[in-house]
Amino acid sequence: MIRSVQAAPRLDSRGYPTVQVDLTTDRGVFRAIVPSGASTGANEAIELRDGGVSAYGGKDVQKAISNVRLVIGPALVDSGLKVDTEQKMIDSLLKNLDGTKNKAKLGANAILGVSMACARAGAAHSGIPLYEFLQRESGAKRPFVMPVPFFNVLNGGVHSGNKMAFQETMIAPVGASSFTEAVKMGSEVYQQLKKIIIEKFGPSAIGIGDEGGFAPPISQPHEALDLLVEAVSLARYSGRIKFAIDPASSEFFRDGNYDIGLKDDKPNLHSSEQLTELYRSLLQNYPIVLLEDPFAEADWDSWTKFNKECPVELVGDDLLVTNMKYVQKANDKKACNSMLLKINQIGTISEAIEAANLAYSFDWSVFVSHRSGETTDDFIADLAVGLRTGHLKSGAPCRGERVAKYNRLMDIEDLLGEKCLYAGSQFRVAYK
Ligand code: PGA
Ligand code: ZN
Repeated sequence: MIRSVQAAPRLDSRGYPTVQVDLTTDRGVFRAIVPSGASTGANEAIELRDGGVSAYGGKDVQKAISNVRLVIGPALVDSGLKVDTEQKMIDSLLKNLDGTKNKAKLGANAILGVSMACARAGAAHSGIPLYEFLQRESGAKRPFVMPVPFFNVLNGGVHSGNKMAFQETMIAPVGASSFTEAVKMGSEVYQQLKKIIIEKFGPSAIGIGDEGGFAPPISQPHEALDLLVEAVSLARYSGRIKFAIDPASSEFFRDGNYDIGLKDDKPNLHSSEQLTELYRSLLQNYPIVLLEDPFAEADWDSWTKFNKECPVELVGDDLLVTNMKYVQKANDKKACNSMLLKINQIGTISEAIEAANLAYSFDWSVFVSHRSGETTDDFIADLAVGLRTGHLKSGAPCRGERVAKYNRLMDIEDLLGEKCLYAGSQFRVAYK
């Protein structure tokens, strides 16, 4: 059924090469392009880059591409596995071909591209949309639930050149009545935010970061949140839009302390306790509903302590790397109550689904995520609907690779019409 598997280097949104896979079956050609992170977790599956003095400053992906062409492709064709009913077997074949714990041999970028393309082919061969194929694979319930989009409208950390240590400040239109209305609300707030930034900092301050959010000259989380309060109020959505923060704190964790002045050239060290105090005050003063990676991936004890008192969704990204082993560990340690789902952190669609189902079994939430280095591939839009995760983040409502996902979700909502619900304020428990 699978006739051939080809791969080629194509650019991601940061201008670096990534892996594009074209999988040919008797029904056509099915394409997938793999994303790439910047604030990556230490335990993520390995993204294979050529390194050394190769092209693209060492970031070329020729090795990963020949692994698709010469190793994975022939093995898949020989296996005779069926794309419509045997995704799990395909993914275990990919995993076993690699044979390492973290896909270091063939590269998670090579493997994931093939896994995604197989799922697309599987949906087409089954005569159903991709979200329905993923729903079938995961065993998620019906009806389909449209996720709340968490728009990252202010970019900091390693995603922008301003002095803000915190990586992401997001708006979540939980009070919308549909996904499409949520996009409209997000876009209107984004445009208000732009006006405010011009007024406060001048027109040169409206440059955007890797995920499409603005990166004005601010450095403190409360400055970011104050801007959002103002923008939401100008757009007349106060009360209907909530906030979320992903400090991506592993990036500014140094020798047991958090340096939130890292990008400001003057150290501003916070102990875990002081950082916790900062989060407490932010949670008290702003309508925040979700906090991701508030502590570093190595700082497990702080997670556990904070989880006891945290009144909002506490999401593990670098901490869990979409890997069952760390999801299990975090549940044993009671370290968080939600898993970020990034397919390239683990490298196959079946393993990503297994990790999500494990998280659900602990009564956690699952939050689907893009990477900061993206492409116009919109796979994760279908994934969020198929797994009924209730929320997803794909950056600002701006930049082609970010809006590709939001636009696909509006297509899905149009397609499903009455047959879907919008998660709204129930985004944490939509899967139930
Ligand atoms: P990344 O950032 O894609 O650069 O890792 C996203 C995140 O931290 O959530
Ligand atoms: Zn994160």
